[in-house]
Amino acid sequence: MDTAFDFDRYDHIRPILWTGEALELLDQRKLPFVVEHVTCRDSDEVAQAIRDLAVRGAPAIGIAAAWGVVLASGTVEADDGTAALLKLEPALQRLNAARPTAVNLAWALARMRRALATAGADWREVATREAQAIADEDLAANRRMGALGAALVAPGSGVLTHCNTGSLATAGFGTALGVIRAGMAEGRIAKVYAGETRPWLQGARLTVWELQQDGIDATLIADSAAAHLMKTGAVQWVVVGADRICANGDTANKIGTYQLAIAARHHGVKFMVVAPSSTVDLDTASGEAIEIEQRDPGELHGLGGVRTVAEGIAAWNPVFDVTPAELIDAIVTERGVVEQPDLAKMRALFAG
Ligand code: MRU
Repeated sequence: MDTAFDFDRYDHIRPILWTGEALELLDQRKLPFVVEHVTCRDSDEVAQAIRDLAVRGAPAIGIAAAWGVVLASGTVEADDGTAALLKLEPALQRLNAARPTAVNLAWALARMRRALATAGADWREVATREAQAIADEDLAANRRMGALGAALVAPGSGVLTHCNTGSLATAGFGTALGVIRAGMAEGRIAKVYAGETRPWLQGARLTVWELQQDGIDATLIADSAAAHLMKTGAVQWVVVGADRICANGDTANKIGTYQLAIAARHHGVKFMVVAPSSTVDLDTASGEAIEIEQRDPGELHGLGGVRTVAEGIAAWNPVFDVTPAELIDAIVTERGVVEQPDLAKMRALFAG
């Protein structure tokens, strides 16, 4: 992808808007039929929006949390950043507790802490600049990953993606969807399939809508159609995002990703994970140590507010799973590509 790539043509949606006084979040619970924003005026409203999935996607929740710290900074008096941090810590901890699996949330808060720890009297401006930098760097990383990931795909390929990893889940352009945007623009990707992503339907409600807004055709499939699709030879790559990539390359992502990786290996389809380095967590040795978020079983009891399951039926609703590194052909980050990831290759690119 050359530097003349027309990003504005392929990327219109922005889920997070800082107004200078409040955080406006495109309400992803209501898409695609209602385009409405939630206004957060304090950090607890941001934590609530993260918990309720008004804003979602690993990079996006990190960015929203960083702006949550900026909102919290308006509520405390302090002479410098260190003193401010002491007072802000409870708000930071409430933000951090909003969702457990995506490491970008803790990463963004740690970065805000580091910036504040060395700030002087202008600590509020420092916090604002840091939150903006986190957002700006995410957009730049996505654009870079788009080029790196698309380069791995042979011209004319079909791809399958899962969940929503686009502008809606990031500062813009997207991770896996960034690769798809770049690959489509270059003619490397000829056909895009998106899985529905039960139970919350990120694929059906968000991904195909987002691509449609940007003039990119995608074909929706039931999650359960994925292995059959691979068997037909229609896709050469599965391209997904990540919520946490461990030191050994094991990757947590939306529930259903693991079974796609197994089916892909069986059918000779390649499997690509696309995520910024803020999703890489070298402190977590392997997937065994990742906390998998469990959500309300009620998400499985109905669709669009209509109950589809008899009363009294139990449901188990883990919303992420872990794909072992050995099923991953390439991890694409803005720092570079790790093929057939393992501990040594991950350390070589990300340690230090
Ligand atoms: O529960 P969600 O919608 O926040 O889950 C999102 C995913 O699993 C995405 O694939 C991941 O965060 C990467 S987004 C660039």
